[in-house]
Amino acid sequence: SERELHEATVTTPVNIAVVKYWGKRNNDLILPTNSSISCTLNQDHLNTKTTVRASSSYTDDRFWLNGIEETISNSPRLTTVLVTLRAIRKEKEKTLGPLAEGEKPLSEWKLHIASENNFPTAAGLASSSSGYAALAVCISKVLELDLTASELSKIARRGSGSACRSLYGGFVEWQHGVDPSGEDSCAVSIAPESHWPELEALILVVSDVKKSTPSTSGMSTTVKTSELFPLRVNEVAPKRIKQMEQAILEKDFNSFATIAMKDSNQFHAVCLDTFPPIFYLNDVSRGIITLVHRFNSQVDPATGEPLGIRAAYTFDAGANAVIFVLKNNVKELVEYIASHFPPATLQPTSVYFPDPFGIFRS
Ligand code: PMV
Repeated sequence: SERELHEATVTTPVNIAVVKYWGKRNNDLILPTNSSISCTLNQDHLNTKTTVRASSSYTDDRFWLNGIEETISNSPRLTTVLVTLRAIRKEKEKTLGPLAEGEKPLSEWKLHIASENNFPTAAGLASSSSGYAALAVCISKVLELDLTASELSKIARRGSGSACRSLYGGFVEWQHGVDPSGEDSCAVSIAPESHWPELEALILVVSDVKKSTPSTSGMSTTVKTSELFPLRVNEVAPKRIKQMEQAILEKDFNSFATIAMKDSNQFHAVCLDTFPPIFYLNDVSRGIITLVHRFNSQVDPATGEPLGIRAAYTFDAGANAVIFVLKNNVKELVEYIASHFPPATLQPTSVYFPDPFGIFRS
């Protein structure tokens, strides 16, 4: 019958932080030390596609990542997301009518989950952000739960902190919250992607190798050892959250770019200040940083006037760069980068996304 198999497929975009999340105040609930702000990229480009199938005849929950089966019990985070959503389903079943003779409640059906990233996984390209967002949304659909984006955001957060921000398109803030339960630690929309359609993101894939230090262990060592970290958490990040929100609302590219670059740099400085230090940038990443600053210091050849800040780099837990640039400067920037970096340096490909911002559709 129709009730014997339930299936849903969800595609979720990655998000790239411009004020970074780095550090947890609660490791189990994944509560951050500071708020963060991100841009959700267009889901036509970097995304995770997840299909979940529930069947009363399945005997086990199973999970495939990029076609390879993984053991769910080896992933406490995946288990948490699954257990949380099933518990919500169980609550809902109390309000539903009685089942037919011999019928199993949906909360007891096993799930087969297949998740695929269309880009390198765990290479500092925010694969966990889209991955856990897709997982939470997809399972909640199959279990027929009517959860709000805010509720889904909190569940995705238990998978990977940054995933809570992929529940919204456009410009998003993950509010750190104060409640020890984490009830107020979720993402909120600052503005939809349509607010600033001129803003584009360029992804420079420098390396597709898996990052050397997973973000969870890296953050935990930072919180324990970095002496710069308290300054970042208590003073710098809160100030930048306010400034960045204003820059986005005012579509002030100069401020947006300056804060994004400084915040990326401070995140990597805090990584270097961690003991033992964590290195995510490589020589190509540093070359890109230098190049963007050189691009930004150009003058108009006719008037000699500075052209101003026209590009901003940001790097997560990996060597790959995301460059923010306004539409009318994309062509010039791409040519500038291409003339300094032979294509072979940017492995495997340098990808240009002409229209990075997309509306999240579940
Ligand atoms: O969600 P996680 O645990 O993969 O952490 C992501 C941390 C950064 O990508 C470096 C910064 C951020 O805010 O996304």
